[in-house]
Amino acid sequence: VTKEVETLEKVKQQAEEWIREAALYIKKEMKGSFAVNTKAHQHDLVTDVDKNVEAFFLEKLSETFPTHRLMGEEGSFEQIKDLSGIVWILDPIDGTINFVHQESNFAISIGIFLEGEPIIGFVYDVMRDELFSSFKGNGAYLNGEPLPKLPKNALNESILSFNAGWMLKDRRLEKLVHSSRGIRSYGVAALEMAYVASGRLDAYISFNLAPWDIAGGYALLQEVGGKATNFRGEALNFLEKDTLIAANPWIHDEIINTIYNQDNKQ
Ligand code: IPD
Ligand code: CA
Ligand code: CA
Ligand code: CA
Repeated sequence: VTKEVETLEKVKQQAEEWIREAALYIKKEMKGSFAVNTKAHQHDLVTDVDKNVEAFFLEKLSETFPTHRLMGEEGSFEQIKDLSGIVWILDPIDGTINFVHQESNFAISIGIFLEGEPIIGFVYDVMRDELFSSFKGNGAYLNGEPLPKLPKNALNESILSFNAGWMLKDRRLEKLVHSSRGIRSYGVAALEMAYVASGRLDAYISFNLAPWDIAGGYALLQEVGGKATNFRGEALNFLEKDTLIAANPWIHDEIINTIYNQDNKQ
């Protein structure tokens, strides 16, 4: 076991190096011109930069850790039907709309799983140079500084994050606007989960996220005592899209109750 942990420590160091290298590439490309395409609809963009960052990780993994598998948003996920062995779950750029329109508020997200368990987490805010990282059993960090366990909290003193589209889809979320201290919306799921892990937000809620949106942030949350489930309160499975409530553990269940236990008079 000690040997395995040592090896995984090396994997973590290597991942951090590659993340920083990918970030330099992203920053360089951002200053030039790159192709932007829509995927399913106008809310869903992809650029050549997203694809090239994923290709970079694919190449690095096959050279350095040939037994590790990659589940990335821009195509490599198609090869992954289970989480046996070591799987890197990668979002090469989370918040592509922000990348294209704002040139900030986007992240590289990686969760490294061993036999289905998150061991290593990274969420890197490229423009702010904020690296959130974690190693199972060894805590979560922001730029090397340990993040404390999440403190006791109440919904009326909490800042929640979800996007306007979700409120249009399910008006029961309105109740959360009234019951909380405030609502924010950043458009970058991985970073919003990292903000929950670091206490900048108390919960992040979404109706539809993929494994690569949440894997890195989930690993971070595990280390600070955060609670992340789908809307039914069930464990996340990291092979399919699902709903998400990632929260301070003291308000997680209250959020589910606030959404689902409303009378119809509201
Ligand atoms: C998206 C962002 C966004 C979330 C979407 C994701 P992408 O990821 O995380 O905040 O609301 O559901 O698909 O496409 O920018 O990697
Ligand atoms: Ca996308
Ligand atoms: Ca994403
Ligand atoms: Ca993405």
